[in-house]
Amino acid sequence: MAKKINKIAVLTSGGDAPGMNAAIRAVVRSCSYYNMECVGVYRGYQGLIDKDFEDLTARSVRNIINKGGTFLKSSRSEEFKTKEGRAKAHKNLIDAGVDALVVIGGDGTFTGGLYFNKEFNFPIVGIPATIDNDINGTDYTLGYDTALNTVVEAIDKIRDTASSHNRLFLIEVMGRDAGDIALNSGIGAGAEEVLLPEEDQGIQRMMDSLEKSKKSGKTSSIIVVAEGEKSGKNIFQLAEFISQSHKEYDIRVSVLGHIQRGGSPSCFDRVLASKLGVGAVEALTDGKTNIMVGVDRQKVVHVPLETALKEDREFDQELRRVANITSV
Ligand code: F6P
Repeated sequence: MAKKINKIAVLTSGGDAPGMNAAIRAVVRSCSYYNMECVGVYRGYQGLIDKDFEDLTARSVRNIINKGGTFLKSSRSEEFKTKEGRAKAHKNLIDAGVDALVVIGGDGTFTGGLYFNKEFNFPIVGIPATIDNDINGTDYTLGYDTALNTVVEAIDKIRDTASSHNRLFLIEVMGRDAGDIALNSGIGAGAEEVLLPEEDQGIQRMMDSLEKSKKSGKTSSIIVVAEGEKSGKNIFQLAEFISQSHKEYDIRVSVLGHIQRGGSPSCFDRVLASKLGVGAVEALTDGKTNIMVGVDRQKVVHVPLETALKEDREFDQELRRVANITSV
């Protein structure tokens, strides 16, 4: 029988994402609700190694549901990638009387958790949080909805200038390996073309789209480019490439960068964070370990960390089709 859980530690790791604070809050309050203790770990896995812990009560997490970033701070710890680092982290958890760990983050966070669980058989549950939405087995990751809304708002503003000056704008959005932000914001903001990491026909299609747009009477255009798109050219080289064959275009480049990661979480992300925080604590008290809590059609589901990390996420061909049709 699994050991009874009396004390849970929670940390955030990897790139921050809006909704992380709301998830920490839900974990802490679930512990309080079920009469368990909760420890916050600062600076992700590095804080586990440095024993940067603080006891958290239901009142410690007041007024944070609406805040972006993570009050526990985050890091990408190199030391945790070593066996010695993980051994130190394990000793600190045992010394502090911690029985289980909730890790909030993306693929790097889950990979660290998986190693840790395998080595020490320490109960771990992950909550998916990354603006990229690139985790297998959950419809949404925390922060993705907020980031999408930020991106659409920014593109709407850029559109005013594009249209007033008859310009072509190339706009870079985040997403090294996943085109979810680019494809969805592209559709939502009415872009003429979207270049994604999942496809490598992007440049030719982009040139064809520009040609078509011109013929159909469009006077300005917006192209959304995911940072990891496949052409091998960065966004400035893409702009140069277009201008060589289309001198008539007045082209501007805009890299949205880290404004996509910050800001107050959307209501969707706050509710998702609350569901997943409660789900994570309840999974641990039910004796589950080595899983991620995700959502599948609104319901909280348990997904093995190994599955969450699989890189064979299906690309949404239907959305691509919608983008093609609505941009004519
Ligand atoms: O994984 C989230 C993410 O925002 C990616 O989209 C982006 O490529 C990366 O983090 C940027 O990381 P950093 O903040 O370390 O530059």
